[in-house]
Amino acid sequence: MDRVTAFFDRMQGIADDPDALDFTFGNPHEMALPGLTDAMRAQLEPRSVDWYAYKSNERPAQEAAAAGLSRELALEFEPDDIAMTQGAFGAIALALALVADAGDEIVIPVPGWFCYEPMLLAANLVPVTAALDPADFSLDIDAIARAITPRTRVVIVNSPSNPTGRVFPKQTWDELADVLERASRAHGRRIWLLSDEPYRRIRFDGIGFASPVGSYPWTMIDYSYGKVLLAPGQRLGYLALSPLLPASDRDVLRSAFMPVQLAIGWGFPNALMQYSVPALESVSIDMAELTRKRDRLYGALSDAGYTLTRPEGTFYLWGEAPGGDAQAYCDDLAAQGVHLMPGTIFDRPEHFRVSLTATMDMIDRALPALVAAARTP
Ligand SMILES: Cc1ncc(COP(=O)(O)O)c(C=O)c1O
Repeated sequence: MDRVTAFFDRMQGIADDPDALDFTFGNPHEMALPGLTDAMRAQLEPRSVDWYAYKSNERPAQEAAAAGLSRELALEFEPDDIAMTQGAFGAIALALALVADAGDEIVIPVPGWFCYEPMLLAANLVPVTAALDPADFSLDIDAIARAITPRTRVVIVNSPSNPTGRVFPKQTWDELADVLERASRAHGRRIWLLSDEPYRRIRFDGIGFASPVGSYPWTMIDYSYGKVLLAPGQRLGYLALSPLLPASDRDVLRSAFMPVQLAIGWGFPNALMQYSVPALESVSIDMAELTRKRDRLYGALSDAGYTLTRPEGTFYLWGEAPGGDAQAYCDDLAAQGVHLMPGTIFDRPEHFRVSLTATMDMIDRALPALVAAARTP
């Protein structure tokens, strides 16, 4: 937690420096997509007196999200199985509030998104880490099996994965489903799977996507429109229940959506964003341009001698810090105005993460320092 706070403090300094080459967060560095602003503008003028009244799960938003999910995952999602949330953050908080009790253990991947841990601690839940395979950052099913105890309530998985950019195949989910089913039976307590999929539509080279929702019925998907729109400040996302979930569990969770969303602090997106969902379902950043940036950075840094994981998806390039001390490596680059995210924040102090959401111009300006740093002893 301290390392996350320390990094956010440092971020303020980067934000205050207009010349900083900022490759830290998956933030926009160009003007917002016209498709986003058009969609919001089209909904801005009130059409009724209650246009900006309290909104819960707006039907057209649920319908558009369910239709999009059904198309993408080839399973029939129903609008009632979708809870609209303030991004993936809101959907993760909702999922935990729906199924976990204080003191329950939640298994999280490492390296993985650095906000799982603080979110779990704030919800009085116990994070239990399961390392990804260090060779290629694929999901280590045995590590998850070892992390499961009688107190385990949820296993969180993330594909496409932050920070490694890996995308996991269906076979991985089938194997995981087998482990979760056996452990649930052995402990007499259902283990839920939370599939954190905010980067589901951010994939390279036509690589396919498999969600564990098709392999394990007790799966919930959290999603964010913040990535595909590159507008994480407009908080919009959803939590979706698996269409394969047995009716008894589904009915309980469906009827819990509204009261639990209220209880966690009116956890719905604002009215304007909900009205915009049908139009936003088909809006996306330019994936061809993101691919060019991935190729430019990956190619130039590989040629310079870096050991990198080639991103299959997400906004991120993950690599080993020359010299093995990512904090020192990132500090050195920061002194030259190039800001990367040190792996310390992901519990991997020998690695670093580069965000591909920087512009091509920023990449070109940063490359000389990055290439030179490859030779640092
Ligand atoms: C893996 C992962 N999950 C969830 C989130 C939260 O997404 P949002 O801020 O759009 O809610 C992020 C954001 O970076 C993420 O990387």
